Amino acid sequence: MSVEKLDMQSPDLVNQNIEMLAELFPNCVTESENGKAIDFDLLRQELNGAVVEGTKERYRLEWPGKKEAIVTANLPTTKTLRPVRDDSVDFDNTENLYIEGDNLEVLKLLQESYLGKVKMIYIDPPYNTGKDFVYKDNFSKNTQDELFESGQKDEYNQRLVVNPETAGRYHSDWLSMMYPRLKLARNLLKDDGVIFISIGEQEVHNLKKIADEVFGEVNFIGAAGRISKKANNQGDYWAPNFDNVLTYSKSREFAVPFFGGINYDNYTEVEAEGPRKGEKYQLVRLYMTSLDPMRGCNNQRYYIECPDGSFVIPPGEVFPNEIKDGANVSPKSGKDKVWRWSYNSYLEKKDQIVVKQVRSSNLVNERGEKTFWNVYTKTYLQDVIDKSTATPNNFIEDHINQKASHELKALDIPFDFAKPSSLVEFLAQTCRVEKDDIVLDFFSGSASSAHAVINLNSKDLGSRRFIMVQLPEDTDKNSDEFKAGYKNICEIGKERIRRAAKKIKEETGADIDYGFRVYRLDESNMQDVYYKPQDYLQTNLDLFADNVRPDRTADDLLAQVMLDWGLPLSLKIERLEIAGKDVFRVAENSLYACFDKGIDEAFAKEIAEDQPLRVVFRDSGFKDDTAKVNVKQLLKQLSPETEMKVI
Ligand SMILES: C[S@@+](CC[C@H](N)C(=O)[O-])C[C@H]1O[C@@H](n2cnc3c(N)ncnc32)[C@H](O)[C@@H]1O
Repeated sequence: MSVEKLDMQSPDLVNQNIEMLAELFPNCVTESENGKAIDFDLLRQELNGAVVEGTKERYRLEWPGKKEAIVTANLPTTKTLRPVRDDSVDFDNTENLYIEGDNLEVLKLLQESYLGKVKMIYIDPPYNTGKDFVYKDNFSKNTQDELFESGQKDEYNQRLVVNPETAGRYHSDWLSMMYPRLKLARNLLKDDGVIFISIGEQEVHNLKKIADEVFGEVNFIGAAGRISKKANNQGDYWAPNFDNVLTYSKSREFAVPFFGGINYDNYTEVEAEGPRKGEKYQLVRLYMTSLDPMRGCNNQRYYIECPDGSFVIPPGEVFPNEIKDGANVSPKSGKDKVWRWSYNSYLEKKDQIVVKQVRSSNLVNERGEKTFWNVYTKTYLQDVIDKSTATPNNFIEDHINQKASHELKALDIPFDFAKPSSLVEFLAQTCRVEKDDIVLDFFSGSASSAHAVINLNSKDLGSRRFIMVQLPEDTDKNSDEFKAGYKNICEIGKERIRRAAKKIKEETGADIDYGFRVYRLDESNMQDVYYKPQDYLQTNLDLFADNVRPDRTADDLLAQVMLDWGLPLSLKIERLEIAGKDVFRVAENSLYACFDKGIDEAFAKEIAEDQPLRVVFRDSGFKDDTAKVNVKQLLKQLSPETEMKVI
């Protein structure tokens, strides 16, 4: 027999009162800074027969913390991205990025380098199911607070807070997390860029409202439903088996019409040579039994020459007088079959004709014998994509979550909340992501989006690039992920990309970019004093003789310089030795960076020979003060286009 336990606390009467009012007036319950609350203006209105004076009504979505969310988006970050060569694959040559850290800070850091450069963003944020962790930003955080924190990683885990439905700020906290991230993400989209957001029923209504604000209601492209699971019997009412993909364009004016309705699996041939080398196509028979010869097909019965010098023509009773390529005759009855193309089309597009020997055929040769030659035309995938005006249905049926489970199982990667990479691939094709476009996913989880991009590239030898951002969220100690040795989700994402890339390479042999550069969010490379000169004491000056933190490498400094200068992190980086010093050369002569000591006039002269567009040194890297002035002068004289900066 169970005995009821005393909870030894007096009841929370305020909460009880709110609950009682909520039963009578559910519309008057709201969220305040301190949790669940009553909207007294509305309650007064409910109790009054006339319109009560009060705050001005407006059409908008508000929540406690919205203003802070705007401030959060606008505050600059003092953080930086540090390269992690050991975790990367083909660091020097790849153009793909995997970035570890809170996506808010990362999006801020990408603002200059990727402003207006991203064609497609796909995100799958926490749906706020009541069991999700939601990241809490601290908008008032300053550098001093940071100094006291025990380290970046612990900070991440402290900030990830479970957000149960019963919490008084359930919706507000989620909205405050999403709002600044969407604002920053929008800046990165190209004019014809598109963002797809997967979202469940818990927040779809709120997300629509804030996304309308951030992207503009006119730029709402639509909401697609996606079957997420096979029919199940879960729940007491509707068995949940679909979610939504909210879709916004950066600008409706430039948004390209969506593309839908092609079976990519049909395009199995690859052009081996010529101007369309590497392109996929399918072969479609030139002879189709279903064509009615008597319906305007006068020019469609002619001989085609085969590689062995024989000629083929569709079966029939009349044949051209001459036996030569293109010799033509008009069909006299329904029995005189015809080709799909007119004689003129045949002459114009002969380069798209393929005559292949096949096992059997109902064509006849010039002697009336059944031949083993068949004639095909090439249909290039890209032409179909370019011309297609068919649009996709806004109900997505083929990309359910079970597909993701199978896909990850095949790679032996444990992760429970993935979307299938085929969904991201489908969305990329839908919004016509082109061969050299950038795809960004800043809630990347197991990196399904990276998998999708590599797969797409393998199909058409494209050079689309991905940027994945993911918090190094600790895996649960009891989870399969943890037991398999993955301490955090970034470890899972990176390993997934490595394995998926290996599999695709083995299966297709495609010559594409399978690598990725890993960067990790960290405190700035500069001593804090660099940002707050007014705060340091005369006695500390020696400590700060060099403004770079002692644990930072030249690689670290280069990443920060590239971001500050608005150069994409994916640019090619080479290391050279010039006059005995280590120099980074970025994207040919876009940037030369040297963080060594002893920079002098002789070194400047050598660098000037390459006419770099930008040059950067450490402020403390010059041989002496005179050298600093002279180097600047020399570069100005010898390489006037060069912009020189110091850190
Ligand atoms: C639903 S999962 C995404 C799953 C992903 N679409 C896939 O297919 O694997 C959401 C991810 O967002 C991550 N996340 C949550 N808050 C974040 C933040 N502030 N910065 C970066 N990632 C975050 C979580 O760690 C989680 O892995």
